[in-house]
Amino acid sequence: MAWSVKRAIVVGASSGIGEAIARQLAASGAEVALVARRKEELDRVAESIRTAGGKAFVHVHDAAHSSEAAPLFDAIVTELGGLDCLVYAAGVMPEIVEGEFDFAKDRAMVEVNLLGAIAWCGPAAQRFSAQKSGTLIGISSIAGERGRRGNPGYCTSKAAFSTWLESMRNRVSRDGVNVVTIKPGFVDTAMTRGKKGLFWLVSADDAARMTLALAAKENSAAGFVPGRWALVALVVRSIPSFIFRRMNF
Ligand SMILES: NC(=O)c1ccc[n+]([C@@H]2O[C@H](COP(=O)([O-])OP(=O)(O)OC[C@H]3O[C@@H](n4cnc5c(N)ncnc54)[C@H](OP(=O)(O)O)[C@@H]3O)[C@@H](O)[C@H]2O)c1
Repeated sequence: MAWSVKRAIVVGASSGIGEAIARQLAASGAEVALVARRKEELDRVAESIRTAGGKAFVHVHDAAHSSEAAPLFDAIVTELGGLDCLVYAAGVMPEIVEGEFDFAKDRAMVEVNLLGAIAWCGPAAQRFSAQKSGTLIGISSIAGERGRRGNPGYCTSKAAFSTWLESMRNRVSRDGVNVVTIKPGFVDTAMTRGKKGLFWLVSADDAARMTLALAAKENSAAGFVPGRWALVALVVRSIPSFIFRRMNF
């Protein structure tokens, strides 16, 4: 594979898809900065990367505190001596029950899934644009393809993140920057554990492998993980609104 990452930041590296991506990047030779809130989980991931012969650094950060992202980004880039790849995998999806209208939950999703994402991906895009290389990977979701009744805040945050990544791709890919939007279907992580109605469930390791394989193509694109969700997205997007609002999807 021509694509090689020597220095990476993974935001949301303490569990699930972000953890798996961090491990796989480290296994392929990258020094990885692991960012999230739970220090003990970050230490666990870092320790296992080091035990396997890799290099990892831990930085505790709450992505909801978006004003702290740019200074921390700069500090980590200095620590790593440069940057080839930033992965934004942090995300929250609180349970929303039928008839619930909870602004605090909506706000948390927008703060972490969208504002935190922009706060981290913006400085990375700027840096990659200036150095004429680099890969920016955003973990969005198929949930952003349509406004589903179950969780308006989550769908909104992911639709907006996908759009932001598309805009940034159109802005910086001409500078040689690889901007990759990942839209997973159902992945077996803490976020989905115990949820009903899941199908085509893949492991976090498999989702990470597919994510990095798409990024390695270096063709600045959006992709579904696994790819068969593209068909679901096509169908879901083509359902007229007057029918979609009657569905429980
Ligand atoms: N699982 C799925 O089926 C699925 C499907 C589509 C998209 N996704 C997306 O994939 C991404 C990864 O989710 P996952 O499934 O791997 O779930 P997960 O295991 O719950 O991982 C979520 C990660 O986000 C981090 N995070 C959450 N809030 C944060 C905050 N305020 N500040 C910093 N980090 C924060 C968590 O770390 P701390 O708690 O330590 O902060 C954790 O590392 C999310 O963006 C999610 O929306 C998941």
